Amino acid sequence: MITMCVLHISLVMLFSTEISSLDCTILLFQQNKMNTESLELLSKIGGQFPLRCLKENRNFRLPQKALRPRESQEKDAKMVIQEILQQILNIFSENLTQAAWDRSSVETLQNGLHWQTEKLETCLHSEMENETPYLGNKKLLFPMLKLKKYFQRIRDFLKEKQFSLCAWETIRLEMGRCLLFVDQLIKKA
Ligand SMILES: *[C@@H]1O[C@H](CO)[C@@H](O)[C@H](O)[C@H]1NC(C)=O
Repeated sequence: MITMCVLHISLVMLFSTEISSLDCTILLFQQNKMNTESLELLSKIGGQFPLRCLKENRNFRLPQKALRPRESQEKDAKMVIQEILQQILNIFSENLTQAAWDRSSVETLQNGLHWQTEKLETCLHSEMENETPYLGNKKLLFPMLKLKKYFQRIRDFLKEKQFSLCAWETIRLEMGRCLLFVDQLIKKA
């Protein structure tokens, strides 16, 4: 099952390097596929949510409303997707010793996220060659700040709980919410 998944992701990667790496339209189709796979991996890396961890439950307040793109703001949506996936990758690069997760699935998830963020970055660079650079996009500054704060709350939580098993299970659920939101964004981008 795991081998199948790795193989599948490798095939998607192979496919994508054969076509132009700057083709943002096909990229979104691939992002959609990869995001679905990330969601599947997220449920696969661990078992059922342990009931004893319910007490750790917390509302991290993903700023969905601020991040939802206005009409015909595909590029903004891609930037937001890129930032979220990068942050999720950073979270899953923290100390996972106590998480009791399937190592190889975690690695597949990390590799997939890495691939997605790289591709998105290439696409964004190609789209923005003659336009305002990322930081010049004032409309996005406030939503991005909210997003960064959201991920800061998550990192603080993990630190406070000393990267315990329950903390990681809580964050696994939360990252699932995040990826579902990314799914909506991809469909709008
Ligand atoms: C990760 O956490 C474990 C204990 O949970 C600790 O023994 C180990 O040193 C930590 N690793 C890093 C790189 O901080």
